[in-house]
This record gives sequence, structure tokens and C-alpha cells, in this order.
Amino acid sequence: MRSHHCGQLRDTHIGDEVSLCGWVHRRRDHGGVIFLDVRDHQGIVQVVFDPDTKESFALADQVRNEFVIGISGKVRARDELAVNPKMVTGQIEVLGKELTILNRAETPPFQLDEYSEAGEDIRLKYRYLDLRRPEMQEKLRLRSAVTHFVRRYLDERKYVDIETPILTKATPEGARDYLVPSRTYPGTFFALPQSPQIFKQLLMISGFDRYYQIARCFRDEDLRADRQPEFTQIDIETSFMDEQEIMSLTEDMLKQLFAEIMGVDLGELPVLSYQEAMNRYGSDSPDLRFDLPLVDVADLMKDVEFKVFSGPANDDKSRVVALKLAGGDRLSRKNIDDYAKFIGIYGARGLAYIRVNDVAKGIEGLQSPILKFLPDDVVMNILERVGAEDLDIIFFGADKTEVVNDSIGALRSKLGEDLNLYEKEWAACWVTDFPMFEETANGGWTAVHHPFTHPLGSIEEIEADPGGTLSRAYDVVINGHEVGGGSIRIHQADLQKAIFRVLQLSDNEAHVKFGFLLDALKYGAPPHGGIAIGLDRLIMLMAGSTAIRDVIAFPKTQTATCLLTSAPSEIDAEQLHDLGISINKPA
Ligand code: AMO
Ligand code: AMP
Repeated sequence: MRSHHCGQLRDTHIGDEVSLCGWVHRRRDHGGVIFLDVRDHQGIVQVVFDPDTKESFALADQVRNEFVIGISGKVRARDELAVNPKMVTGQIEVLGKELTILNRAETPPFQLDEYSEAGEDIRLKYRYLDLRRPEMQEKLRLRSAVTHFVRRYLDERKYVDIETPILTKATPEGARDYLVPSRTYPGTFFALPQSPQIFKQLLMISGFDRYYQIARCFRDEDLRADRQPEFTQIDIETSFMDEQEIMSLTEDMLKQLFAEIMGVDLGELPVLSYQEAMNRYGSDSPDLRFDLPLVDVADLMKDVEFKVFSGPANDDKSRVVALKLAGGDRLSRKNIDDYAKFIGIYGARGLAYIRVNDVAKGIEGLQSPILKFLPDDVVMNILERVGAEDLDIIFFGADKTEVVNDSIGALRSKLGEDLNLYEKEWAACWVTDFPMFEETANGGWTAVHHPFTHPLGSIEEIEADPGGTLSRAYDVVINGHEVGGGSIRIHQADLQKAIFRVLQLSDNEAHVKFGFLLDALKYGAPPHGGIAIGLDRLIMLMAGSTAIRDVIAFPKTQTATCLLTSAPSEIDAEQLHDLGISINKPA
């Protein structure tokens, strides 16, 4: 039906007879001449109909936005004044001869060429229209290019692409499971995988040596801008490779990917320990595009009268930090109040600050509501420690360590974004030496990564001090987003059982939930490990989007629904009966 694509035509085609198919992007009637911007997946070209071609002109007069048409005509140069440098086809236009209406369209619920006015809900409800917009198409084409690159990279290195089940048993990754009721065994459920974790380990036990999968994962958890209930991982597992080897493979793959697709050199990824990352940036996924470190000052605050500082300074589960913002003088009182409110979300009870007007004047050169609570020598020591200069502002956070890390870490990221403190466009790093366990509210333990991660230390040491046990896990972080995570796995049944014990899983519970894995570990499991990269997050960053929804063709909303299909939806009584399920709706 077509000889060329709309977006492909250039001045080299002048004089050529072409036939094109596409959508009417815009129609303009300029006193006797009709201009149609015709769009296909490669771009937009202007087609002109004049009254000389009577029949086609009459049809062109009828078409409206988003009609599907076929045209044929001749490419010609635009008048000098009509050249549009903003369009790649802006040097030329097509003088239309014939026009066929292939399908009509109702007026779309939002303008595809002025989309920014359309709210996200309407875009998601009519996602197939939203996806007609070139900027949306670009993102999904980028996604396709990335998966293509990854497959080629791993195929060349003899990784085997193997699919793992979607209807399966719970694979814990720290979220709730999505469950599917079984009809053949009423009252029993499949779980959708939170990741292929256990299956990829079983494949190593089977001797595949190198596995990958572009795998769909399902997690019922609180959603954020970079999380979806259903998302995709580039999932990798290897036998006989240690953490250094797995990290180098991943790093090389990411570097080549960024070089090939984005023309970006990620450089060598620095490695930070979890503790370093938390101490310096208050986060285990630090944004290294800028520095702005948290500086510990508890030792200086132990004896001050100001309880807000001395309290946490004398408590080993608390932290007192200073954050020196160079040139912070540009922040107004209102800005600071807004930041104080912002960190309140993370549990912070206030945001103390000192404005440094003139360092040379000592205490006289400072301005702050808390100066009256702090001895002069303490203040001078703080200035020296943070390296304060004229026109800086120093913020303080004092509270339980977790609250300080969460709130001042978030403040750091927000300042970076609001004030554009970025010194580079891309900054990736590794974070290693994670704790193996995290204390739960009821005094128990939960696995920081997942319970199959290899801990450091002997079984006795681990059971004696779970809180002090580190794991052989590693995360890869880009621009402050955790893009991937992995670990060396436990390949000994005894160690795996010990970990389940620390997690308060009785032998019986462990057997019911993970008996098949414990069994498999008995039959010659090789040392193995791997990693999973969050594909959606990676593409979100590469596409310069702030929402993961932008890089998924048919995403869910922040409340885990699909506005296009209205899923989830109720099912009829007969289906419920077959499943042996009765519904007990919360009031
Ligand atoms: P983890 O749980 O860290 O590890 O997941 C790996 C990566 O997947 C991405 N990710 C998500 N992306 C979008 N929406 C979500 N809800 C979501 N949850 C996670 C993140 C994350 O870094 N089985 C292990 C991997 C391993 O040990 O090999 C796992 O799933 O980018
Ligand atoms: P207050 O005496 O409670 O009015 O606090 C004096 C200053 O300390 C105010 O600027 C508060 O915002 C700040 N502040 C209060 N609690 C904290 C805290 N936990 N960490 C940092 N600053 C705080």
C-alpha cells in the first residue's frame, strides 16, 4: 500500500512519486488549499491538496484528525518561507494527487499534538491513543533496543534463555504475593513469582551454568514513581562465579549498553560499602551526580544544653549530622520551612539550620534560631568540620539513625534536584557489604536481600549475632535509583536451614514452604550467584522519564489498577462457585 514512510522523506526525494499511509495528525484549511500533516511510526510529513484535483480535494476536506488515509503524490521542495526547520521533513512537502480514506475516527478524547494538557488518567484509559504520540513510541522503541542489546550480549557469552513458571509457589522478595486460586484443588492457591529466584537457582543445580531471562515479576507492595506491581527484570544466574566476576560482567554489560545506545561513557563504577553509603549519603542507593555529604557531628554535641541535639548525640542508635549547602544563602525562609515540612514525611521533627553570612566575623557572622542553645566553641568546630564558607547554609538532623538517614538523605536528593547541583549527567555505583538481616518491629529478623543470599561467617557466628552478620549481596545504582541487585547464594542445605531458623521459620514451616529447594541443595548444588536488573527502571532513566509508567506499554496506576481494561474486576457467581470461594468484602 505504500512506497515510503512519512517520516523518511527528505529533499533527496524531490520529484519522486510516492504513496504513503498513516493518520491525519492535523488538518489546516488555508483559503482554498488543504494541508494535511500525515503521521506514521517514522514521523510526520505535510501533504498539500489544491482544488485542481477535484475528487481528492473534496475528500481531504472531509477528513478529520486521526482518520486513517492513504495518499499518493509527488514530493516537492517547500517555498523558502514555508521551510520548517523543526520538522525533519520540513524541507519538503507532498503535492497530493489521490486520497483514500481507509478508516474514519471520532474526535479523540485528547489532542495528540497538545498532549501535555491531558491528565494521566485519560491517557491511561485511552492508552492506545496515547501510544500514538511519537514521544511515547520513542520510549518503547528504546526499550526494545535495550532488550535486543541485552539478549545479544548474553547470547554471545553462552547464557541460556530459559522461561520459568508464572503459576508457582511464593518466592519471597519482601512484598505481598499476588495469588491465583486453583479450581482443581479448591481452597489452594498459586502465587505469581516475585522473581524467578528459586527457579534460577534450581537451573544452576541442573548444570546450565549460565542462565538469563527477561522475566516478568509480580509484587503487591506500596507503589512509588519507580515501582509497578508487575514489572520486568533482566534476570541472570551463573555457577562458579564469585561476586567480583558477576559485578564485572554486569558492569561491562551496562557500560556497553550505555555507550552503544546512548553514546554515554558510564566510567568505572565506584564501590561503596552499605555503611559508607548510609553514613555519607543517608541512603543505600546514593545519587552520586553531586557530593553534598552528611557530616557526623554527634561527638561535638554530647554536652550541649540543647536536648534536641545532645539526646541523640548520646544514644548509639541515633545520629546527629550536618549538611552544608554551598551558596545556600539563596534559600528563603519559606524555602527552609517547606524543606522542614518535606522531611516531616520521613519522621523528622524539625530542620535546624545556621546561615553563614561572614565567616571572618566568627559567631557574629552567623544567623540561626539555634545559636543561643549552642556554645560558641561547638559552633566554631562545626563550621570547621563542614568547611563552611560565606553564604553557605548548614542544616542539621538529629534523631534515631533511621529517621536521620531517611530524612536528611531525602533532603539531600531534593536539594540536588531543586537546585540542580548535578556535576554530571550520569553517576553509577555499586553498593556492597549489606547487612544480612534487619530487625522487625516484633524483635525478630527478616532478610535484607532474600533468604537465599549467602551470609558471611560461620553458622555459629550468624546465629549468635544476626544483626552483625553481613551478606555477599551487591546492588547497582544509577543516579540515585537502585537499578539492580544480586548476591552469591547459599548452596549448602545446612546453612540454608540455619538462615530459616534465624528468620523464625520452624523446620516444619521451612519444609512446607521451601522443602523442594532444601532437597535440591542436597544433590550436589554448585556454588552460584547472580543478579537482576530492573528493566523498567533502567529504561525510565535512559529515557529521561520520572515515572516508570511512561516506559511500560500498558501500566497500572499508583493504586494498582488498569484504567484501560478496568482490571481488577469482579467475577461472576459461577466462577466463584467453581473455585470454592465466597467473597467477604470489607465494610
Ligand atoms: P530485587 O528485589 O532487588 O532482587 O529486584 C531486582 C531489581 O528489580 C527492580 N524492581 C522493581 N522495578 C519496578 N517495580 C518494582 N515493584 C520493583 N521491584 C524491584 C529494581 C531491583 O533492583 N531475585 C533478586 C535478584 C537476585 O538476587 O538475583 C531480586 O528480585 O530495579
Ligand atoms: P525547637 O526548640 O523545637 O523550636 O527547635 C529549634 C530548632 O531546631 C528549629 O529550627 C527546629 O526546626 C529544629 N529541630 C527540632 N527538632 C529537630 C531535630 N530532631 N533535628 C534537627 N532539627 C530539629
